[in-house]
Amino acid sequence: MSTPLLPLRRRAVLAGSLAAGAAMGAAPLARAALPSAGPVLRRATRLAEGWRFHLGHASDPARDFGFGAWQRSFAKPGAELTSAAAADFDDSGWEAVSVPHDWAAGLPYAPPAQVPKGKEDFAAAHGFRAIGRDFPGHSVGWYRLKLPLGKADRGRAVWLEFDGVFRASMVIVNGYHAGGSTSGYAPFRVDIADFLNDDDTPNQLVVRVDASLGEGWFYEGAGIYRHVTLVSAAAQHVPQWGVCVRASPRGTGAEVAVATDITNAAAHPAMVALRQRVIAADGQVVAESESAPAPLAAGAATTLAQALAFPAARLWSPEDPALYRLETTVLTDGTPVDRVETRFGVRSLRFSGREGFVLNGRPVKLKGVCNHQDHAGVGTAIPDALHAWRLGVMREMGANAWRSAHNPPAEALLDLCDAQGMMMIAETRLNTTSPEGMDELDRMILSARNHPSVILWSVGNEEGHQGTPRGARLSAGLVARARALDPTRQTTQAMDSGWYEEGAARVVDVVGFNYRTDQIPAFKAKYPDVPVIGTETASTVATRGAYANDPAAHVVRAYDTEHPWWAANAEGWWPIVAANPGIAGGFIWTGFDYRGEPTPYPAWPSVSSYFGVVDICGFPKDNYHYYRAWWRPDLPQVHLLPHWTWPGREGQPIEVWAHGNCAAVELVLNGRGLGRQAMPANGHLVWQVPYAAGVLEARGLDAAGRLVAQDSRATAGAPAGVRLLASKPRLAADGADVAVIRAEICDAAGRPVPTARTRLDFALEGPARLLGTGNGNPTDTTPDHAASRPAFNGLAQAIVQSTGATGAIQLAVSGEGVAPARLSLFAHAL
Ligand code: GAL
Repeated sequence: MSTPLLPLRRRAVLAGSLAAGAAMGAAPLARAALPSAGPVLRRATRLAEGWRFHLGHASDPARDFGFGAWQRSFAKPGAELTSAAAADFDDSGWEAVSVPHDWAAGLPYAPPAQVPKGKEDFAAAHGFRAIGRDFPGHSVGWYRLKLPLGKADRGRAVWLEFDGVFRASMVIVNGYHAGGSTSGYAPFRVDIADFLNDDDTPNQLVVRVDASLGEGWFYEGAGIYRHVTLVSAAAQHVPQWGVCVRASPRGTGAEVAVATDITNAAAHPAMVALRQRVIAADGQVVAESESAPAPLAAGAATTLAQALAFPAARLWSPEDPALYRLETTVLTDGTPVDRVETRFGVRSLRFSGREGFVLNGRPVKLKGVCNHQDHAGVGTAIPDALHAWRLGVMREMGANAWRSAHNPPAEALLDLCDAQGMMMIAETRLNTTSPEGMDELDRMILSARNHPSVILWSVGNEEGHQGTPRGARLSAGLVARARALDPTRQTTQAMDSGWYEEGAARVVDVVGFNYRTDQIPAFKAKYPDVPVIGTETASTVATRGAYANDPAAHVVRAYDTEHPWWAANAEGWWPIVAANPGIAGGFIWTGFDYRGEPTPYPAWPSVSSYFGVVDICGFPKDNYHYYRAWWRPDLPQVHLLPHWTWPGREGQPIEVWAHGNCAAVELVLNGRGLGRQAMPANGHLVWQVPYAAGVLEARGLDAAGRLVAQDSRATAGAPAGVRLLASKPRLAADGADVAVIRAEICDAAGRPVPTARTRLDFALEGPARLLGTGNGNPTDTTPDHAASRPAFNGLAQAIVQSTGATGAIQLAVSGEGVAPARLSLFAHAL
């Protein structure tokens, strides 16, 4: 995959070059220096803007920029590979896009009439998007970008880092096929220095992406949907993923073992030394170490081990996600030539059969969520700020762990998990020891191993061979490789059967149960020393804000009662995990609704799943409050369902539930007490209440009968207005930051109208763009990027992104029968 400037002839050993890392005294060594004005050590440029995009064609070369038109396409670089590679190719008619980009989110839906017979299930699984082999005109995408390289980059090591491209990508530089990846999920690097122009002609990058085939049974998007970074480094440099930092608590301090790869891509040997500095969050340098210079031959690479320590370490945990920076500098003849920074945390972890998950010596229950990378309005192209917002939604619910299903997580998500204290199970897509399977595992582990948030590697999910000897062999191969690359973490596999067989369950460290949580105690009784987690739990289905099943309309009530045969409701699994210290925790399938798998109605017009505890916009369904109550026991709370707007049902009984963690809840309708009930642990309360318009109130009481929490539902009138709420009022004017806007339909008195479906039009003024909109309705087939969308059960969402410019932003929202609303945002300088 990688093409160094010179072949790596040998891996040298820097003999005698290791200067012992000194345990530093309590006094910090120095403040980390600000970047000096000297030569640029390394340039890492995020390639987000300036891309041009055009659909190609999977079967017709004439509509695929000549790709495949010539039998000898790959014989020589240049036009026979593709006409789009030429520097003077006219791409002015191509769409201007920014990366991350998911072209599938912009495609039309393919209702059943357009889906070939027999393929309806497949189409449903992928959210009825018109993509795949049956839609060759939608399944190949081409990207063009002039690379921001200059004279100063000549003669340097230059490469591209792709964090994820869906799928089968070909990276072409100045007409040369430079690399690519078949995997749609594993990150990859493409060395491009050899292909760069020797004069001032701009360097043309072209990426062909073929999403004709999928790797999953869910919506997978299409295109360059994660970040791309252009790196220009000195000949002597640390290659991608070349720093491995392992930090463990030692007494009150930390021991840090660093292994650093160094490459000498020059045509001459070099005297190379390596300096490491550990910098705490306050900027203090708390440890440093420098190796003695040693020769590194031309074209050679080596790995250097260094040990550092510092006496007072703040441990990383979900409550206090303390991070340190390791600054690694390569010196040639005493001069710094390359520098990389690696964030890390100090913590210990292990899974135990008896104690569950043990973090920093203390058992911690994993309150987990599984998620795909997918959000309303944007598809898989999730901006970092939206990742951050989604994490916040799950953290607010009390989740402390995330399983990236069923593929390696985006680097941006891992960075945010590190910073926000969300623990992560990273999962490789392929459960196979084929070269491709092993390579994808390598790429996941090498890219993610420094992240303190990662607690476990998953090597498979519901594999058909999971309970067989072959399944054991395949997983054993992956597990052995994971241990070789990272002996500090254990492995798991998500299984839906075969736990007692001589299969994968015998070779992974932590046995994963997908569903069947009620069977885990029996397994634990038989194998008390085997660590266990619920890799998937629940799969409760619900439509947000709906309280009666309506199969004809594909609506599922949001009481905690509905789930497919293999699954459970929230109360069907969490109490089991909560009560059993030997079960390390469980991961709800899913935190967020996602496109595809429209269970329990796998048919048009259902285009997204109903599994989430929040909908595809992140609007909480009622079960969110079940989890929040029991996952955040220190926060007294009560939540009432359903809404209280039932015209025509006066006098009829309404099934009223309260979620919450108060000792008791008293229900009050229009000032009249309807009785007090004690809240069962990990349970909920139910009343049957004859409907009368007005205000229904739940009063949460502590053991002494004092009011500690409250919730109410008021009967609403007709839609009359829109209440707008931004996740933040100020955005960084970096072309990437995002504000998530909640639009709620209200009546004339400002009460939320819980059934409103008012169509809303969103219009922006100022330096911002509307990325997309959503409403959380699994049957909504409005295009993702549409500026007009009906609210669903009272709510809609708009995702607003800054451009590069500063200034005031106005979002105007209008709709029939509602007073127009405006929201002011501001894009501020960086
Ligand atoms: C599991 C699978 C998930 C999802 C889920 C739905 O079988 O691992 O990807 O399909 O079931 O309940």
